[in-house]
Amino acid sequence: MDWIYISKLKEYAGKDVEIRGWLRRKRSSGKIHFLFLRDGTGFVQGIVEKSSVPEEVFNLAKKLKMESSIIVRGTVREEERAPGGVEILVKEIEIIHVPEKEFPINKPDHGIDFLMDHRHLWLRTQRQFHILKARHEIIKAIRDFYNEREFVLVDTPIFTGSIGESAGNLFELDYFDYGKAYLAQTGQLYLEAACMALGKVYNLGPTFRAEKSKTRRHLIEFWMNEAEVAYYQHEDNIRLQEELVSYVVQKTLENAGEHLRALGRDTSKLEKVVAPFPRITYTDAIKLLQKKGFNVSWGDDIGGDEETAIAEEFDKPVIVERYPRKMKAFYMQPDPENPDVVLCDDMLAPEGYGEIIGASERIWQKEVLIQRIKEFDLDVNSYDWYLDLREFGTVPHSGFGMGVERVVAWICGLEHVREAIPFARTLYRIHP
Ligand code: 4AD
Ligand code: MG
Repeated sequence: MDWIYISKLKEYAGKDVEIRGWLRRKRSSGKIHFLFLRDGTGFVQGIVEKSSVPEEVFNLAKKLKMESSIIVRGTVREEERAPGGVEILVKEIEIIHVPEKEFPINKPDHGIDFLMDHRHLWLRTQRQFHILKARHEIIKAIRDFYNEREFVLVDTPIFTGSIGESAGNLFELDYFDYGKAYLAQTGQLYLEAACMALGKVYNLGPTFRAEKSKTRRHLIEFWMNEAEVAYYQHEDNIRLQEELVSYVVQKTLENAGEHLRALGRDTSKLEKVVAPFPRITYTDAIKLLQKKGFNVSWGDDIGGDEETAIAEEFDKPVIVERYPRKMKAFYMQPDPENPDVVLCDDMLAPEGYGEIIGASERIWQKEVLIQRIKEFDLDVNSYDWYLDLREFGTVPHSGFGMGVERVVAWICGLEHVREAIPFARTLYRIHP
């Protein structure tokens, strides 16, 4: 009997197969055991009938507990009502291991702290399976997008001596004789260097922010995809972001639609996510917020609730552009038409998921950049190499960073980003 993965069982209807996996849960009567099995590729129900198996096999099934590791052999039967369209009529059971204890995750209503404490086991449940499969397809779509467009993957460093974003939320460490170093908040500065060598570049990796935020959108360690393109300006940059997000959403619907539906996601909302996206300036966004009763004025930060209120007006992601320069990072190019704002944009996802992309055109004139580094109280010396980029072959260039977990949370319809990453690092959690 051939070892077949559950995801492929449909091709084996009527045949005998072997499944190597685990018992997720069991339901029994005196005459029949229903074994709900998983093998990492999917879930399937195995049926053990007292009348059609030797007594030893029926008794083996009786001994099984949740998360027993087992090999099951039997006949694949088509069954329309079953998940995946098939079930297994079990003939043989081989037990690899039966746990002594009861599996801790065995109720529908465990609290979130309990589940996060057991994240290493929680991953085995159906919901987490569908989320991680969707995340996998989302990341694959991100990479495909760039690879189909001649972008070059440039892996940027995790340890850095130059503050990439702001001094506020850095993880600091001692780096041998060098002194202070930091965990990367962004790979942007390195992508800026690389785009002057390779034209169009992207990265995808972990970034770190010691943020004291305990919101449903913040992680301490999160994955970011960044892109940087030489000679791109503000408008080119926005077009690229729109294309990327449309591509990722549509490809995920195509390749992970079953997972999204299993999660209860209303996929009709995602079908609408096709470029171009609506746009609003920061200045108009503030007016909109004021009209909606928010107590904000020009120059104020747009927080989570405000983002949700703006995004509510649209059924696609919305681009908010040209923020006050004082609110944003040091490297952003001032708007030639209004030096109080910069050529930047944030993309806000619909349905309350908030900012998924932060983007800008970069300052490319050396003197302007030096002045801005000083204005932001950053150490000019640590940017010597970054300033070289404005000395040798400097050109306008632009790029952005997209938060992977926020995109996963939005596409999957999750309440909190902690479920969008295998092992979330949040303000109060680094275990397991
Ligand atoms: O807006 P941010 O801070 O932009 C940058 O870091 C730029 N250097 C990117 C670039 O231009 N190359 O972060 C980018 C995105 C945000 O829009 C958000 O989606 C996500 O990263 N993000 C977080 N996601 C989860 N937890 C956090 N603490 C996050 N901080 C930012
Ligand atoms: Mg941002």
